[in-house]
Amino acid sequence: MQTMPGLGRPLLTEYVNFPVTLAPMVGLSHVGLRSVVRRYLPKGANTFWPTEMLNSRRIPHENLGGTPETYRLDEEMDLVPQILGNEHRPIKETLQKMHEWGVLGVDINMGCPVKKALKHNYGVALMGDKQYAADVVGMAREATHLPLSVKLRAVDPIEIEPLVEFVKPLVDAGADWICLHPRTAAQKRRGKANWSQIRQLRESISVPIIGNGDVQCLEDLNEIFKSTHCDMVMVGRGLAARPWLLWQWAEQFGWEPPPERSGKAPSTPLEEGAEYGKCAKALVSVLEARFKESLGVRRFKFHVRMTHMWLTYGHAFHAKVLSANSYQELHAVIDDFFSRPQTMVQRTQLRI
Ligand SMILES: Cc1cc2nc3c(=O)[nH]c(=O)nc-3n(C[C@H](O)[C@H](O)[C@H](O)COP(=O)(O)O)c2cc1C
Repeated sequence: MQTMPGLGRPLLTEYVNFPVTLAPMVGLSHVGLRSVVRRYLPKGANTFWPTEMLNSRRIPHENLGGTPETYRLDEEMDLVPQILGNEHRPIKETLQKMHEWGVLGVDINMGCPVKKALKHNYGVALMGDKQYAADVVGMAREATHLPLSVKLRAVDPIEIEPLVEFVKPLVDAGADWICLHPRTAAQKRRGKANWSQIRQLRESISVPIIGNGDVQCLEDLNEIFKSTHCDMVMVGRGLAARPWLLWQWAEQFGWEPPPERSGKAPSTPLEEGAEYGKCAKALVSVLEARFKESLGVRRFKFHVRMTHMWLTYGHAFHAKVLSANSYQELHAVIDDFFSRPQTMVQRTQLRI
């Protein structure tokens, strides 16, 4: 049996014993997807879970757990919600509310490149001002004893020094770990993520480093651990498309199958194609139980838009899903499409 990589520098020591987690993604990392992915976590494995990005200007006035972005399952006391923010009072009030809500930690977004975030000088805009970025972490640290992380992008596609210089003050200001998506803002989510920056950052910084970007299949997940020595890996689109990646990875290290599962994780193209269909059905069911129909149907369509590329005939599935307008129609489309054998590919070109 191989030794499990990761957690060389443990985070949240008492709880997290499994070094793979889902990435925060607007429109995707909601209670529905988390619930489907969680079903593939091996028995006895604990990781932390993201939320969609939450705006610290809004959270103080919202009912946590009562908005679609903060819906959660009763057992989800292991969230590390992600916040967007740059002002003292909203950050403080948000963190106090999070604390009362019951979370494992809070992640600060410094990677979001959308125009609105740039305009308000948060998200990746904070990476343009080293001192201010550290002040934001300081504001959060002052407001809470909860573990704090920062999720960042690369500063330069090749050079690591500017990134190290940016990260050190964040750690001094109280960041407990750093998650790096090593693509620059200009690269958005396309092209290769430069994993060597994850390794170099880990060699230069004392806190745990979570690596992220472009992990699509088991081979990628093994490779990112091996080549970067990172403490955890965060997977976004690949895990949305292939939730059983958690099980595939874990079985190499002798973890038991997930609860209610036995045998081996799906692994052949045909097994994976069938599993995609089961996950799609399960996702619609969770959305149905939680989200009003128009919103749930929209979320599912977005999910398929972001994941269909791994299905060999995904474009046909996507087109059919787009034509559905109710939960019932979504169920019918999925049942029909997956009544025939479907296959999945290991990797695809990520264009969106
Ligand atoms: C639809 C979508 C929404 C995203 N939203 C966020 C976000 O709100 N906060 C964040 O830090 N990253 C966000 N990301 C980036 C992911 O967290 C991740 O860093 C990126 O997708 C690279 O990982 P991957 O190649 O495994 O998907 C988003 C990505 C996608 C695809």
